[in-house]
Order: sequence, then C-alpha cells, then structure tokens
Amino acid sequence: MSDVYNLFEDIIEVDIEQNIIEDCIKDYYSNTEFRTASMQKADPNVHIDYFTSLVSKVTSSDVSFCSGNYYKHTLPYMPHTDYKEQLNNSINFVIPLSIKGDASLIIFDQLWSGNSVTWDMNLPIPEHKTNKNTKGSPIDYDIKYTTGKPFQEDIHQKYLSFFKLEDLKGLSANIFNFVPSKGVIFDNRKIHCTSHERWEKLGLSLRFKYAED
Ligand SMILES: [Fe+2]
Repeated sequence: MSDVYNLFEDIIEVDIEQNIIEDCIKDYYSNTEFRTASMQKADPNVHIDYFTSLVSKVTSSDVSFCSGNYYKHTLPYMPHTDYKEQLNNSINFVIPLSIKGDASLIIFDQLWSGNSVTWDMNLPIPEHKTNKNTKGSPIDYDIKYTTGKPFQEDIHQKYLSFFKLEDLKGLSANIFNFVPSKGVIFDNRKIHCTSHERWEKLGLSLRFKYAED
C-alpha cells in the first residue's frame, strides 16, 4: 500500500473518439477571449460527462469533475504537479486535440504529495501569475520514489535536453506522444512536463476527485 492518500498508481492511455476531439476543438475556437495570452486557456463546455465516465471506468471508482481548461501553447511546460489539497483533485486527464509537429507528454514516476508546484529547473523562465515558479529541480525537494540513479541519457537527449542532465537525477520517465485521439489519465501529484519541441499544441486538461472525498 502506498503512503500517499488515494494514490492512483497507474498511468493509462485511452482512445478518444474522433467526433469528441472535433467537438472539443470547435468548443475551444468558439471562445473569443482567452484567460492568458501566453497559454491561451479557455474553459471546456462539452462532453464533460463522457470524460468523467472514462475516468470512472479506468480508476474503477466513482469520480466527479473538479475543473479543467483548454490550453494552446508553443513553449514546453516545465516539470510541475497540479494537486490542490483543499479540492482533492488528484486525477488528471490530458486530451491532446491538435499539434503542428511532434511532441510528448513526460510523466515521471516520482511525485510531490503537497499542493501544486512548478520547478524552474535552474532556468531563467518567466513567472506565471497564479503558479509561482519554485527554484531548482524536483530532486532539491522531498519528492517520493526517487531512483537514486542518474537520469537516462538517451531520454534526456531525445525529449528533455533543455534541462541539465544532473537536474533530472533520481527521476524516471514515462513518455506519451502528444497524439489527438490518445488521452492520458494519471495522478496529478506525479511530476510531469512536455518535451522540448516548440510546436503549437492544443490540448484539454481535466481534473477529477474521488466521489467519496
Ligand atoms: Fe499538469
């Protein structure tokens, strides 16, 4: 048993029907204003019940939808977590909608059990208004399940070369190509980021909690 409250240990890739993807893209572009200029975020209005039932099936649990947003960006996402203790929103569902080029979602086996954090990886990256960057890399903090080993060099070169190899020490990565029709469900206390490519990506990120919480 894990010592992390209600940990969903698996990382599950699920197929999404094409008409659902198309409806979401239409929903996104029906917005005339976006929450932030750099990430171009917007709220989802369609198929929430469909996504909720997929998460219930995969987790074999009753879950309820907490929050979510579309995001369109070209810059990579830094390593971060999304959990908020007061909401217990520990399940993430990432749904790629469109991409110009190839990129990947990287989900590490290691996790941060507290409130959401974004690490700056010792790089001079701009601050977000709501999520302040945390200095350094995850290994500088009390994260769980570290490997105690150097990060795999081939994965570093292929996906994460914008970070220093030593800043990834103790982490182990699971790679998911950002492909529309392939969604990924995982515990959002697991540290995750995108690969280094700078292609424009449109995706939908949804957060759920266990219904009994
Ligand atoms: Fe995230």
